[in-house]
Amino acid sequence: MTYKVASLFSGCGGMDLGAEGNFEYQNDFYKKLNTKIVFSSDIDKYAVEIYNDNFEHKSILGDIRELKSTLPEHDILIGGFPCQSFSIVAQNPPRLGYKNDNGKLFFEMIDVLENKKPLAFIAENVKGLLSANKKQAFPLVLKSFKDAGYHCTFKVLDSSNFSIPQKRERVFIVGFRDLIASNKFDYPESIDKKSHLKDVIFSENEVDDKYFFSEKAVNGMLRNQEKMNKGRAQDPESFCNTITAHLSKASLNSVDPVLCIEGRYRRFTPREAARIQSFPDSFQFKVSDTRSYKAIGNAVPPVLMWHLMKSVIRALEQ
Ligand SMILES: C[S@@+](CC[C@H](N)C(=O)[O-])C[C@H]1O[C@@H](n2cnc3c(N)ncnc32)[C@H](O)[C@@H]1O
Repeated sequence: MTYKVASLFSGCGGMDLGAEGNFEYQNDFYKKLNTKIVFSSDIDKYAVEIYNDNFEHKSILGDIRELKSTLPEHDILIGGFPCQSFSIVAQNPPRLGYKNDNGKLFFEMIDVLENKKPLAFIAENVKGLLSANKKQAFPLVLKSFKDAGYHCTFKVLDSSNFSIPQKRERVFIVGFRDLIASNKFDYPESIDKKSHLKDVIFSENEVDDKYFFSEKAVNGMLRNQEKMNKGRAQDPESFCNTITAHLSKASLNSVDPVLCIEGRYRRFTPREAARIQSFPDSFQFKVSDTRSYKAIGNAVPPVLMWHLMKSVIRALEQ
């Protein structure tokens, strides 16, 4: 059976690439899974542009609140819903409210589950969701998924355990309509083979001067380093800290990861950021650096998603 997958908040397609498979990363081949993406969309024009440069099927540009009625039937729903700002303080009994428009988007996933009743879903979010609102938000998020008719589990997965050279902890919620499938489901095991930053970065002479910080910025940072804990230079022998969506603004004053090789400080190139996120080199980013960094930093690492989707399919097929 080929499982039809609908993807919400698809961004540039990190989650979707992993959900489909059929790509190479760091000399390993991630085989095609028994899936077919039948819907994907995002509200960000440039993320959709990147997506459509890389996938045969096309992502639709638009607001999911307006597009959701057009969703086709599907078997698996996937989505990294935008980080939430729920308001649940001073409510009795506590329930999920919205602090702003973004806070409502999680309910779009719930809506689709209630209306389309796919066999399973995978939702992703930052680990901070577990502690948000004095730990009151997450149980309510989980309850909403359960109330939509799903047997749910959740787990924090760290990309560095899946041959990805990045420490990136994200919470994944996986739900099945069928209790037997849910009982058969296990989150993917850590992979023994580790990948480190040095495996994916370019040598310094391959990197354009524009990615290096000026002498003035470096001297300023060095003067204040002890006082301000600046200069988040990463160890090439180890995993990179989490790549974020604002890497284009990485400065020596910020907490964003940077490199310091033989005394020269620089930011990662978009291709390096993509590799740190486990995108294959065949995945193209034709938009500006700033827009590329944003889409890359927002993405679910394809390799991690591949392992998770494989586990979900295994549970459905048993
Ligand atoms: C965390 S990112 C998802 C990245 C994606 N899962 C990936 O792996 O590449 C969340 C995405 O939600 C999109 N988004 C925010 N509000 C939206 C809306 N109202 N309708 C559709 N997409 C929206 C953002 O543009 C962003 O790309």
